[in-house]
Amino acid sequence: MAGQVEAFFHEGTNSLTYVLHDGPGTEAAIIDSVLEYDPVTGGVGTAHADRVIAMVRENDLSLRYVLETHIHADHLTAAKYLCDQLGGETGIGANSPVVQKEWSGRFNLDLDAVQKKAAFTHMLSQGDTLILNGRPIGVLYTPGHTPSCITYTYDDGAFVGDTFFMPDYGTARCDFPGGDGEVLYGSLQKILGLGDDTKIYVCHDYMPGGRELEWVASAATQRSNNIHLVANTSADAFAKFRAERDKGLSTPKLLLPALQVNMRGGSLPDAEDNGTVYLKTPIAGAPESVK
Ligand SMILES: [Fe+2]
Repeated sequence: MAGQVEAFFHEGTNSLTYVLHDGPGTEAAIIDSVLEYDPVTGGVGTAHADRVIAMVRENDLSLRYVLETHIHADHLTAAKYLCDQLGGETGIGANSPVVQKEWSGRFNLDLDAVQKKAAFTHMLSQGDTLILNGRPIGVLYTPGHTPSCITYTYDDGAFVGDTFFMPDYGTARCDFPGGDGEVLYGSLQKILGLGDDTKIYVCHDYMPGGRELEWVASAATQRSNNIHLVANTSADAFAKFRAERDKGLSTPKLLLPALQVNMRGGSLPDAEDNGTVYLKTPIAGAPESVK
């Protein structure tokens, strides 16, 4: 039963959560969890995370780690909720304070308080390892989509966050603060350097053309079929392509709530004195007369 990878798809955000384990009674790690959030009502939901929790409990798994590939901008992480329910240590890229600082500034928040609330157990750099079931989870630093993105390796799998999508959908956008197409190109090559047989597990699938959901492709398949790499075979060409394409992409609809929660490691802001939690929306473009 060694080396099981279970994928849980969240339809609302097209996200994939992975549970790594070795079968009933063994240790487990969760990568890139999801907390539901309705931006219209402010409603938070745990249905997706609860499916993961049920599977962990049914299999009597001992949760060691709840890991993030990066501070996501398109969905909220359930990391804090999962740790509260199941125990386990959190992990994220060592460069995440750069992202926390950027967005704490944009939301006019106290960076120290944000970082204290996040309280990640492991700030992970290139070459670091965590041990799960006696084998290493490796860490590759794979920036470009954001400056803090990391990839986790375990057995023959690579959990690449938003670097690669499935070959027919391409690669991640690079227009968030600190994003860089040329840097992402280097990260994609680094992941491909893990070897042709490496299984690349993606963080999102958008099922282009109405095809069935997929979440894993070999490095060899990504190298030969990824539509963005096949069309742009140098770092320079790739960066130019990304910059042009990113100009046409819309802002993720959960960007503002996601960043406020995810840079706190999945915790909400403190409740105000009426007991209610509020998220902020920076207002842009308002005439002076209405301020
Ligand atoms: Fe992302």
